[in-house]
Amino acid sequence: MEDSLLKRFGVSMEGNLLRKFDHLITQKGYKNRSEAVRDLVRDALIQQSWEDNEEIIAGSILLFYDHHQRNLLNELTKIQHSMHDAIMATTHFHLDHANCLELIVVKGRAKDIQQLSNKLTSLKGVQYGKFTAAPVEQV
Ligand code: NI
Repeated sequence: MEDSLLKRFGVSMEGNLLRKFDHLITQKGYKNRSEAVRDLVRDALIQQSWEDNEEIIAGSILLFYDHHQRNLLNELTKIQHSMHDAIMATTHFHLDHANCLELIVVKGRAKDIQQLSNKLTSLKGVQYGKFTAAPVEQV
């Protein structure tokens, strides 16, 4: 049975963290902390739910890295070729003489895409990685 009643719970965190959180809340335009926490929890649940999900999703993997990192380009290429069926496009931007931004557009089974994203973002030299996905309605 769905329980949609609002429940209250207490949260403790360091003052520094709370100040940053309140700043974020203001910037994002939330009315209060509760609203912001609800959104964060929903987002975390969506991300986590991909792990063992057979659903077809479409999304993107964004990578930020320094291309001088030994072997990194080889590894990135190898991993992407191993899952070429799930990759619709890869766009590479040379930001400056060292840094690259790579955007990989993906479509496939959620758990496979999540695995692909984990492999890519955990490579040594990848300084930032973000996987964003949306469910695709199956006909
Ligand atoms: Ni580059």
